[in-house]
Amino acid sequence: MANKDQTDTVRMEKIVSLCKRRGFIFQSAELYGGLNGCWDYGPLGAELKRNLKDYWWRKNVQERDDILGLDGSILTHQAVLTASGHIGGFSDPMCDCLLTKARLRADQIDPQSGTAYHFTGASHEQSGWSVDRPYSVLLNQPNQDENKARKTAKAFYAQFLNDNQISPKKLTLVGETTSEETDVTNYNPDNGSLLTEPRDFELMFKTQMGASADENDPNATAYLRPETAQSIFVQYKNVVDSNRVKLPFGVAQIGKAFRNEINPRNFTFRSREFEQMEIEYFCKPEDGLKLTDTWLANRLAFYEEIGLDKEKLHVLDIPDGERAHYSQKTYDIEYDFPFGQQELEGVAYRGDYDLGKHQKHSGKPLEYFDEETKEKFIPHVVEPSAGCDRTVLALICEAFDEEDLTKEGGKNDVRTVMRFKPCVAPIKVAVLPLLKNKPELVAKAKDVQHLLQPFMNVFYDEAAAIGRRYRRQDEVGTPFCVAIDFETLGEEDASMKDTVTIRHRDSMEQERVAISDLLSWLFERIR
Ligand code: GAP
Repeated sequence: MANKDQTDTVRMEKIVSLCKRRGFIFQSAELYGGLNGCWDYGPLGAELKRNLKDYWWRKNVQERDDILGLDGSILTHQAVLTASGHIGGFSDPMCDCLLTKARLRADQIDPQSGTAYHFTGASHEQSGWSVDRPYSVLLNQPNQDENKARKTAKAFYAQFLNDNQISPKKLTLVGETTSEETDVTNYNPDNGSLLTEPRDFELMFKTQMGASADENDPNATAYLRPETAQSIFVQYKNVVDSNRVKLPFGVAQIGKAFRNEINPRNFTFRSREFEQMEIEYFCKPEDGLKLTDTWLANRLAFYEEIGLDKEKLHVLDIPDGERAHYSQKTYDIEYDFPFGQQELEGVAYRGDYDLGKHQKHSGKPLEYFDEETKEKFIPHVVEPSAGCDRTVLALICEAFDEEDLTKEGGKNDVRTVMRFKPCVAPIKVAVLPLLKNKPELVAKAKDVQHLLQPFMNVFYDEAAAIGRRYRRQDEVGTPFCVAIDFETLGEEDASMKDTVTIRHRDSMEQERVAISDLLSWLFERIR
C-alpha cells in the first residue's frame, strides 16, 4: 500500500465479519450491547493469539541466553506510577462535539479549512424563548449550502428548549457572522459543529484495594497497569540479584495493559484492554544507540517470520521534538492495515530514565556494578514494545484472501482462505475420514487424531463432503488436511496401507505420506 492513508473499508468489513462468523473475535458483552473497547477472543482467536505469544516467548526468551522472563501483577502500586510519571502525566487531550456530545482525541483531528458561521444565540418568537450562547459551524466543502450551517446551529440551540414541541426549524438565529478558517482543528470533521476546548483526560483505570477501601485513602488506591514495562523496572534489582546476569541482558514480559482510550476504534486496534509483549534490554550507556538499531532489525525479522509481508512493514524514525524527552532514538514499526498504515510496535532507547526515576523515588540503589571496570552506574535500556492484539489483527488482515477459482463458463467460485503461516495457524492439521459411515475409516482417523493431538491443535471433522470440509478449513487457515481414505485401509493396494493424503491449503496440492512419518512431516512445517 503506497499511500499511508489508503484504506479498504470493504476488505475490513469482510475480515470483521469472518472473525465473528468463524469464532476468532467477538465484542465483549455483546449480549448486553457490548463493552466499548473490549474484545473476547473466540476458540480460534484464542489459539492464534496463544501461538503468537508462544512464538514471541520462544524467540525472545527461550532461544536466547541473555533474556529472562517476568510475569508481573496487573494491579500496580501508585508509587510506581508516580515515579514513572504516569500519574499526572498519562493523559490524552480530549474535546467534545457541542452538538452530538461525541468525544474526540483533540490531537487526532485532521486540520480543516472552510467558512465558519458564527452565531451569538437563538430565539423563538411565538413563545418568547431565547438563548444567548456563542456557537459556530464550519463548512469545509467548496460551494456548500450555507443553510446547512444554519440547520446545524438550530439543532444545537434546540437542545436548550424547554418545550420539545417546538421544532428547531422555527428558531431564529441571532448575530450571524462568518470568517474564513485555514487548518483549524476545533470543529467536528463529521458534522462541522464547534468542539469544546481540549482538556486532559486521564488514561489510567484507578481502583480501590482491600475490604476497608476508602475512596479518599491514598494507600488503598491502585491502578490497572497502563503498560507492562514498569514491573520490569521495579523488579530489575530482584532479577539481577536472583540470577547471574551481566550487561547486556533483557527482561521480557507478555501481559495485559489497560488504557481508558477516548476513542477505541478500528476493531481491536485501539482497545481499552489489550496485551503487550515488551522487552527491557539493559545495557551500558555507550551501547544504547547501536542496540536500538539491532533490536529494530531483529523485530522486523520477527514480523516477517510470522508471515507479515515485508512490503507492508514501515519504519518511522521519530524525529527530535516528537520523541519522549528522555529518548534519544525511537522507531515505530507500522503495518499497512486495511484502515491505513498504523503502529504495531515502538523500539525506543530510553536511556537511564526509568531506573533513574525508580532509584530516586524509592531511595533504593538500582546501580549495576561492572566487575571488569569496577564501575557503578545505572544501566541504560532499549525497549522493543509490541502490541499483541495489534499483531494478531495484522496476522488476520495479512492472511485474509479471496481466491477466484471460477472455471471458464462455470459457476462463480470464490475460495476464502486465511493464509496463516503454519507457526501461528490456530489449527495445525485437520483429520478427515473420507466417509463417516465407514467404521474402519472413522476408527483409523480417530487413531491419527490421537497420535497428533498431544503435539499440536488438531481438528477432527467427518461431516459433509470432503471438498466442503477442505473449504471450511481454508476459511480458518488450517495449513494441512489429512484425509483417511480407502487407500489408507490398503484394501485395494497393500503398499498404500497406513498412508494418508495430505492436502496443502495454499496450493491445494495433495501428497501421500505414511502415518508413521506424519508427526515428523508436520513438525518440520509447523514450528
Ligand atoms: N512501554 C512502552 C509503551 O507502552 P506504547 O507505544 O504506549 O509504549 C506499546 O505501547 C505498544 O502497545 C504499541 O505499539 C501498540 O502496539 C500497543 N498498544 C498501545 N496502546 C494500545 C491500545 N489502546 N490498544 C491496543 N494496543 C495498544
